[in-house]
Amino acid sequence: MRYGHFDDETREYFITQPDTPLPWINYLGCEEYFGLISNTAGGYSFFRDARLRRITRYRYNNVPMDMGGRYIYLRNNANGYSWSPSWMPVRRSLDFYECRHGMGYTKITSTSHEIMSQVRYFVPLGERLEVWELSLTNQRSTVANISVFSAIEFALWDAWDDATNFQRNFSTGEVEVEGSVIYHKTEYRERRDHFAFFACSEPLVGFDTQREAFLGSYRGWDSPLVVEQGQSENSIAHGWQPIGSHHISLRLHPSETRQIIFVLGYHENPRDQKFDPPDSQTINKRTASPLIARYLDPAQIQAAFDALHDYWDGLLSVYQVHTPDEHTNRMVNIWNAYQCMITFNMSRSASYYESGIGRGMGFRDSTQDILGFVHMVPERARQRILDLAATQLGSGGAYHQYQPLTKRGNNDVGSGFNDDPLWLVLAVSTYIKETGDWEILDEKVPYDNQVGSEEPLYGHLQRSLRYTIDHLGPHKLPLIGRADWNDCLNLNCFSSEPGQSFQTTTSKDGKVAESVFIAGLYILAAQEMESLARHLDRQTDVLAALETAVDMEDVLWQSGWDGAWFRRAYDDFGNPVGSQECAEGQIFIEPQGICIMAGLGLNNHLARLALDSVKERLATPHGILLQQPAYSHYYLHLGEISSYPPGYKENAGIFCHTNPWIMIAEALTGDGDQAHNYYLRINPSAREAISELHRCEPYVYAQMIAGRDAPTHGEAKNSWLSGTAAWNYVAITQWILGIRPSHSGLEIAPVIPSSWQGFSAQRIFRGVIYDITVERIGSGNSSHLFIDGQPVEGSIVPLPTPGTKVVKVRVQIGK
Ligand code: BGC
Ligand code: NOJ
Repeated sequence: MRYGHFDDETREYFITQPDTPLPWINYLGCEEYFGLISNTAGGYSFFRDARLRRITRYRYNNVPMDMGGRYIYLRNNANGYSWSPSWMPVRRSLDFYECRHGMGYTKITSTSHEIMSQVRYFVPLGERLEVWELSLTNQRSTVANISVFSAIEFALWDAWDDATNFQRNFSTGEVEVEGSVIYHKTEYRERRDHFAFFACSEPLVGFDTQREAFLGSYRGWDSPLVVEQGQSENSIAHGWQPIGSHHISLRLHPSETRQIIFVLGYHENPRDQKFDPPDSQTINKRTASPLIARYLDPAQIQAAFDALHDYWDGLLSVYQVHTPDEHTNRMVNIWNAYQCMITFNMSRSASYYESGIGRGMGFRDSTQDILGFVHMVPERARQRILDLAATQLGSGGAYHQYQPLTKRGNNDVGSGFNDDPLWLVLAVSTYIKETGDWEILDEKVPYDNQVGSEEPLYGHLQRSLRYTIDHLGPHKLPLIGRADWNDCLNLNCFSSEPGQSFQTTTSKDGKVAESVFIAGLYILAAQEMESLARHLDRQTDVLAALETAVDMEDVLWQSGWDGAWFRRAYDDFGNPVGSQECAEGQIFIEPQGICIMAGLGLNNHLARLALDSVKERLATPHGILLQQPAYSHYYLHLGEISSYPPGYKENAGIFCHTNPWIMIAEALTGDGDQAHNYYLRINPSAREAISELHRCEPYVYAQMIAGRDAPTHGEAKNSWLSGTAAWNYVAITQWILGIRPSHSGLEIAPVIPSSWQGFSAQRIFRGVIYDITVERIGSGNSSHLFIDGQPVEGSIVPLPTPGTKVVKVRVQIGK
């Protein structure tokens, strides 16, 4: 069953009924000011950091699940009937409803009692504000007297403090109202140099800034007293819960349309110019006012919206493809790329499943996000790499997370996740392949943000590799530390007390438990390091990378191979995890993917054997399971993985992040049918038809789909913020469609389904447009390249002479 449909022309998903199985959300803003918005206008906004600069309030885990947002109430003044044009929060039925989520904007249209309402929400590029454009049309044959009420609830900035220290916050809230603008200035009197504003284009007949006055006591957002009575209270918040609500009264003639604009924003003043007059406590509005005026002007707004549209045109044009499969086209050309932008911006901080309070930017998360994002805005990827590297520790280890506002490592979680630093090597080499910007390796970057500790980025990468070699265990495999990629395989934790953090509790000295996954990742990273060092002509480093990779491979075959697949780890007792010897958790997906991506078993039949084991034991129609058999009990020596009921999350769920590793491995063995078949199993668009089972948004990936041991097999959870976005993008664009940057040019080596007769693609790479046509001339995936009509050896299109604008590539595949 579907709850809407795609429109690939407009790059929108149309939701046609408001009660989707879960809130289906979108993101506004892609630079500094961000918002989450659901299909019923729920959600919130923040400036840069969802914890430290939360602008509007949102209560997670609420009843109903999505409550609080960017609400508008309409009231028929003739009879007092009121409704929400976004259906929520009033939930009165609408005669028509449609929500279109697009690239950086959301548009909700509805009709009730012959009043048509349309609201378009977006964040203009370069601004720290969001615009809501409301237009109302009277479809009646008589005059309509309508009251419009806006409503948002301000958060008192630090979302953690807002939720926990509310006794203080009940006394700190402060606002100002001037004309049609409501200013939220809590804590501005003391250390904050920022305030929020909520402006309206129309003269007001009233306003409210005190939540209780607007809602009435004992009432919720679904039935505000002020809307019921049809008149605002003109309340001024003194503490308690400041809100912003404008009241506009309209007299609409038959067929008349009126536009009302609301602007919600964040503004900073220089510390010495906070007040006007200087000795007062009144906000200095000199720089904010012109900005507000600008975005209350419809012409300016349309120009800003067009600019946003053009921006996305540009970003998406970097990789466009036309294949025989609509789900591939749609995800590659639109939604998967879009999700990669969102994961790049948010890491795992703020979604409808991540509170924005607990996690900042994850080290391994953000480094992997870069893999799917770098081609869109390489300069931002560059900055992110340098920010991440600055949180690396002198030992080569890394803080697991950092706060986006301060860019400092997060001490609560600390370090010791032993895979973290290796991902940095992959991110940097991917960045250089995309851009050819070798200078990044010379950038001086500190360790742990300490002044004086700066070293060229190249040295950071060397230390990343060194960190693994400095932490080897009894089998000479890398020690796992707190956890590797699988945060829930906690082999040194041994936690028996409820409430202890699996991520930070370490009851063992960590000298025994080892990770086969990190060994595979190490080889992959060492290979990248080798090519970086070779380019720089650093022979010693080339040799060191080669030798350590070869040694690691030997160790892997000796202690990491289980006979028909790669093992996962060794626990604190030195026993294997992910082996035939185990009663449960015999085979894990991660080492099969990473080891084959590192090249293991490709020159003999062992990669094939491991992949056949995956197919036989882990593959389901809904995707590939993380491991099997699921853990049926909680095991002290395995940690959080066994805390989940079988089939959920890391305990044998379909953890979508890992599936593309198998797709890539299949492509490396040349099986395009299997690779693409796995691709489609978790492709959100392909799952749209089973939305009632999948439940999450059909336009973005979710972290997890319940595995076959779960009663709800096929149900997705935790949409949007997952490494799934970047890795699926990499798997389909670089390994199945086979178009991937390399240091010496654009490589094109498709491994596509046998039924495909070909495809065409446009890839903009280092400023040149590659116009690519692939045609099948026989079976198999061996390919022959013709550049501007001339045959070339190998699979790499060499970098063209400077000044070249377009390169035409024809690829013949099959024999
Ligand atoms: C989740 C993991 C997550 C970890 C880190 C666990 O509870 O299951 O997916 O990576 O927390 O916060
Ligand atoms: C989610 C985390 O964000 C990611 O870093 C981790 O690799 C996966 N969970 C698997 O545990």
